[in-house]
Amino acid sequence: MAKIVGGIGTSHIPAIGLAMARNECAQPYWKPFFDAYKPVREWLGAARPTVAVVIYNDHGLNFFLDKMPAFAIGAANEYRNADEGWGLPTLTPFPGDAAFSWHLIESLAAADFDLTTCQEMLVDHGFVVPMQLMWPGATTWPVRTIPICVNTVQHPLPTPARCLRFGEVLGKAIESWPADERVIVLGTGGLSHQLDGQRAGFINKPFDLYCLEKIVHEPALLARYSIKELIELAGTQGPELIQWLMMRGALGPKVRQLERNYHVPISNTGSGLMLLEKAA
Ligand code: DHB
Ligand code: FE
Repeated sequence: MAKIVGGIGTSHIPAIGLAMARNECAQPYWKPFFDAYKPVREWLGAARPTVAVVIYNDHGLNFFLDKMPAFAIGAANEYRNADEGWGLPTLTPFPGDAAFSWHLIESLAAADFDLTTCQEMLVDHGFVVPMQLMWPGATTWPVRTIPICVNTVQHPLPTPARCLRFGEVLGKAIESWPADERVIVLGTGGLSHQLDGQRAGFINKPFDLYCLEKIVHEPALLARYSIKELIELAGTQGPELIQWLMMRGALGPKVRQLERNYHVPISNTGSGLMLLEKAA
């Protein structure tokens, strides 16, 4: 049976991908940020996942404001990124696992989460930057991928409580797949940031640290916020926290925290990193 070997929460800021493409990771601005990923990469090397379920939000590459699903999933055997205007390089296509995707789709639908199924799907920085961070310089990816998108762009957005519940159902769906896969679940985005409007540049460090603290053992506390409250507390893009809640839900009630890092700012954002394992 498939087994969830761990969960990772990480930023997906496009500037990270640019810094990697330009070989700037050792510069003073970037070094503390990238150094925090070293133990996570070492852990990945030992954990040897075969599949990465990547939970992110599409920012307008695959879906736009005219058609915006609450939850969507890739059901393809390959995913490509494309120019979004950030100047990010086009990377080696990411292998998919359509059969595993359809198992997740059927399991989630049976539990009342009806997903938009994408047999073709472009993946944006929310997916690509975390993949680069986990496996820098990869020319062939060591995992097959399953992209899962949640709407954080066109209101109304799914509530944090529903996203945590989605994750719980997703975790059970993953572990009911008969193939012998080792699955890592990535939740990307956040933490506090506001890219537009009067509060552009807004970051709330105390709230970010509170989220990093509570998501480990008390994620339900974070799931109680409304999207409006998250925007007030964490900026207009702060609701990207729901991807972390989906990842956290997938790991089940008890987890062990192996790594945690917070670095502020990277670009306009308070950037978080967390590595969790399931605990009995
Ligand atoms: C930034 C952060 C994001 O989450 C994003 O999707 C795009 C840009 C930033 O801080 O620059
Ligand atoms: Fe984002």
